[in-house]
Amino acid sequence: MKCYITDGSGIQNLSLANRPEPTEPPPGEVLVEVHAVSLNYRDLMVANGKYGKKDPIIAGSDMAGVVTKVGQNVTEFKAGDRVLNAPFRCWPAGTLREEWAKTFIGGNGVDGVLAEKITYPAASLVKIPSHLSFKQAATFPIAALTAWSAVVTHGRVRAGDWVLVHGTGGVSLFALQIAKMHGGRIILSTSSQEKAAIVGEKYQVQETFDYNRENWPELIQEITAGHGADIIVEVVGGASLAKSIQAAAYGGRVALIGVLGGTDSAINVRHMLARQVTVRGIFMESTQELRSLVRSWESAGLYPHIDRSFPFEQAQQAYQYLQSQKHIGKVVIELKS
Ligand SMILES: NC(=O)c1ccc[n+]([C@@H]2O[C@H](COP(=O)([O-])OP(=O)(O)OC[C@H]3O[C@@H](n4cnc5c(N)ncnc54)[C@H](OP(=O)(O)O)[C@@H]3O)[C@@H](O)[C@H]2O)c1
Repeated sequence: MKCYITDGSGIQNLSLANRPEPTEPPPGEVLVEVHAVSLNYRDLMVANGKYGKKDPIIAGSDMAGVVTKVGQNVTEFKAGDRVLNAPFRCWPAGTLREEWAKTFIGGNGVDGVLAEKITYPAASLVKIPSHLSFKQAATFPIAALTAWSAVVTHGRVRAGDWVLVHGTGGVSLFALQIAKMHGGRIILSTSSQEKAAIVGEKYQVQETFDYNRENWPELIQEITAGHGADIIVEVVGGASLAKSIQAAAYGGRVALIGVLGGTDSAINVRHMLARQVTVRGIFMESTQELRSLVRSWESAGLYPHIDRSFPFEQAQQAYQYLQSQKHIGKVVIELKS
């Protein structure tokens, strides 16, 4: 079968290869014919050698496809079911454990999903809602689950909450849609006026601003009439973290997700303690939370924001496009249309 291999030496070296096709799923697993794969910033980090081990692996972490065969002891799926994967081969529920963390696919020596066929533990698959295509369903595993974790699982969003979302990438667009689903009021930061106009209008965002402006925490206090942001989706880290804490409401929750702006951050302790702000590291979530997310999404009848999709043969171009940061929301690779 065809698949893409990365050895961490750069996205220019992502290579199409032939690997033996998996035919018999082990007990507890199913064989899946992959129809679509979505890309994340993490996939760029893996391909560019900035994420863990650099052993050659099958690339990619998010997929949607069809079950073609089930292994022994699998009762919840049958051939023909449409499924999407949880990002960890094993993280059933609750707090992450070290042994489960090692099962995060598509990095650190663990094969991913950018392949015609994969086997996957049945317990870590979720059925695709009928209103979503494979292409749309493939966007959920990492980006939507991380956003759900930030806004719902740990953010405990409530109607009327002010939710500050940084940037217009995959995690941020999902965070925006999930917060809106719960009645949140959105403030969006982006470096692009064009993206601000597109996203602002499509999702009726309350306010947009450029995260490069100096005093944006004051702006947040102004926009919210001194209340501050109840939830902050902090995909940037670095210097942005201190500003996000400064922009928070009393009891505000900062979901620390990403490191687009670096890993070191000097925070003002007074800002954090005076307003009783919680900063929580977010590292994806369990299959149980993915099921809750998919159920909510289904009942809301929403669609994810896909910027562009590429055919399987153009996987490298898809990576390059994501790296260019021209996109809004998600970039997808289609194996079968
Ligand atoms: N912890 C976890 O579980 C987890 C899960 C998923 C992702 N992440 C992390 O979250 C981050 C985003 O991932 P993604 O897949 O959503 O990325 P993505 O789709 O590539 O989005 C990147 C977007 O972030 C914005 N951005 C870049 N630099 C920025 C800055 N200095 N300040 C504010 N926004 C900035 C840009 O938006 P504009 O063009 O609008 O400016 C850019 O388009 C990455 O660091 C990733 O590693 C973590």
